[in-house]
Amino acid sequence: MEKSHIGRLLVVGVGLIGGSFALSLKAAGACREVIGVALQEEVCEEAKKLGVVDRAYTSLPEALDLLEEGDLVFIAVPTLAVESVFAQLKDNLPEGVTVTDAASVKGSVQRSAEKVWGRVPNFLVLGHPIAGSEKSGVSAARDDLYRDHRVILTPAPDTDVDRLRLVAQAWQAAGSEVLTMSVEEHDEVLAATSHLPHVIAFSLVDTLAHDAENENIFRYAAGGFRDFTRIASSDPVMWRDIMLANRDAILQSIDLYSLNLSSLRSAIASGDSAALMGVFTRAKAARDHFTKMLAKQAYSEPMQAKEVTFIAQPGGTVSGKLRVPGDKSMSHRSIMLGSLAEGVTEVEGFLEGEDALATLQAFRDMGVVIEGPDKGRVTIHGVGLHGLKAPPGPLYLGNSGTSMRLLAGLLAGQGFDVTLTGDESLSKRPMNRVANPLREMGAAIETGPEGRPPLLIKGGKPLSGINYRLPMASAQVKSAVLLAGLYAEGETSTEEPAPTRDHTERMLQGFGYAVERNGACATLRGSGGLKACRIDVPADISSAAFFMVAAAISPGADVMLEHVGINPTRDGIINILRAMGGDIELLNKRTVGGEPVADIRVRYAPLKGIAIPEDQVPLAIDEFPALFIAAACAQGQTVLTGAEELRVKESDRIQAMANGLSALGVSAEPTADGIVIDGSIEDAVFSGGTVDSLGDHRIAMAFAVASLRAKDTIRILHCANVATSFPNFAELAVGAGLNLQLA
Ligand code: S3P
Repeated sequence: MEKSHIGRLLVVGVGLIGGSFALSLKAAGACREVIGVALQEEVCEEAKKLGVVDRAYTSLPEALDLLEEGDLVFIAVPTLAVESVFAQLKDNLPEGVTVTDAASVKGSVQRSAEKVWGRVPNFLVLGHPIAGSEKSGVSAARDDLYRDHRVILTPAPDTDVDRLRLVAQAWQAAGSEVLTMSVEEHDEVLAATSHLPHVIAFSLVDTLAHDAENENIFRYAAGGFRDFTRIASSDPVMWRDIMLANRDAILQSIDLYSLNLSSLRSAIASGDSAALMGVFTRAKAARDHFTKMLAKQAYSEPMQAKEVTFIAQPGGTVSGKLRVPGDKSMSHRSIMLGSLAEGVTEVEGFLEGEDALATLQAFRDMGVVIEGPDKGRVTIHGVGLHGLKAPPGPLYLGNSGTSMRLLAGLLAGQGFDVTLTGDESLSKRPMNRVANPLREMGAAIETGPEGRPPLLIKGGKPLSGINYRLPMASAQVKSAVLLAGLYAEGETSTEEPAPTRDHTERMLQGFGYAVERNGACATLRGSGGLKACRIDVPADISSAAFFMVAAAISPGADVMLEHVGINPTRDGIINILRAMGGDIELLNKRTVGGEPVADIRVRYAPLKGIAIPEDQVPLAIDEFPALFIAAACAQGQTVLTGAEELRVKESDRIQAMANGLSALGVSAEPTADGIVIDGSIEDAVFSGGTVDSLGDHRIAMAFAVASLRAKDTIRILHCANVATSFPNFAELAVGAGLNLQLA
């Protein structure tokens, strides 16, 4: 940024807010001189002594006399004093000077401007920094108060664009992120997020301080009181002004809060444990989410918000016992069916990855009380098939195609409208594959252009059962139709062209819902009921796959993957690796909650290229990125066909892998429905270099595994989404022997 882009800065009101702005611009070298105006001589002296201002005056007109075109006036006085400052500016402001302010209520500042000038003049840019401190006065001013904080500017229709740019640049120089919104929106948002919490904090401390026992209360008050009431020592004059200035919006917030507080009171009075758990679990989830958002880790933050690069150093081998996280497909379904069941469902082994958490949040938003997740344990207080409530807004499903497609089916039969949205990758994925059969059943579903998200599902449409022959082997489509079938009149059946994962059918049966299965067909009748149950989610074979391949390609490797689901609709990775010569043993086979489980031991053995049998494709659909790494390390050619579905996953996995493999010196030719990879048995198969995972979790993890047979460092870009399915991948990978760092 150009230094000294403003000439002089005149700060009216040299307290914490004005003083910090002055110090920030000085530190950034963004202004030539700072002039301060304060009513009291002592404040002027102190501001000069502290180096906050270069000159100070008690008279505003006198200070204004010093300004010229390109200078900036920053008004940092209590909200209700802004009008008298405007009145003095009216006759004394030199031409070409820009004015901005920092008052917390923009509506009242706008009204003050209208009183003085008849409208908001084009040189006035209203603004509000969302930063502060319970300390006040010039002595508390800091040059970093605004760093990494947001500033909201609320330009009027006539605001001059150059003036707006000048003010935005000044805030950016102070280290802030600048947003713009309307005055009305600003005041409503602030009433809820800042003004109401201050009302409550002031009132709580005042209430407690008047208690006869107050000495004791303060003596024994622990962290809760301290944390909750910190803001009650903020500046009283400022807060009185804010309450008076933003009266209507604050009253609305107080009314809503009073209503909720009184229902919480009733729940406590009547011992309504479900209602209490509802409030507390929702609040905890929201607060935890907020904490993650602040750390830029939340699933609802766009992928770009957090950049993660994997840096995988070459060589090494893998060994040891590993337990990878819970199965993603089963985790989604456990929340969905648990929510629709009667009674309390206990889940263990739940995957605390972003995708499954998106499903969990969606059901919380639809009124289901869900405790956890806590180390894989989740308790779901089912509301019954007809107990979901309209969510307060669109359901944001992040990167998760499974959430969106299965929810589309399940929500088609509800009595309310709902909108489903997702991140950039999900927003490009085809949804007509579920919308079309659901429409055939009577659902009203609108999609974005070309059948992409968002989905708008209209409620209250009666559904009738259909016999649906799936045009592609997709468990998501099958599940969407069957879940809609729970709400449909009569019988709903699906027929799939090849076996796909059957967790929906198995889990429905586990919840006591009859599903008839006959070869490729699954049939159920609507209007039954689900009974709560216990669910033990085994480790996800799709996550285990990365370590299976890691062991299969690194000489000396010996890995034991514990408690992995080996459902025959998911075991393609085992069959394909074995056909390539992989040394895989399944130990301790057992059935857990209706799903086959085993410990999988994989030891290094030389691999050879094969033509992958097409019947294995749906059974290994998510494992191909890892399998392509195995193919690159196998003797001879590996040919994949019949896998066009890979082109519509979280990325076009055929193209993304072909690009990455080629960048690492491996010959990989994409075809319309697969790929041809020429393997090599040299020690170092991959050259090292940079590959782009395109934000696809499985591409990122596959190339991390490739480093075991690389000549040089592999840098993998855009890896934040590994958290969607395998949040502790890097940690486990390092523990197993990979040399992986995050940047
Ligand atoms: C899934 C089905 C598969 C799979 C996805 C999870 C499921 O998708 O790729 O990761 O849980 O039903 P398709 O149904 O699109 O093949």
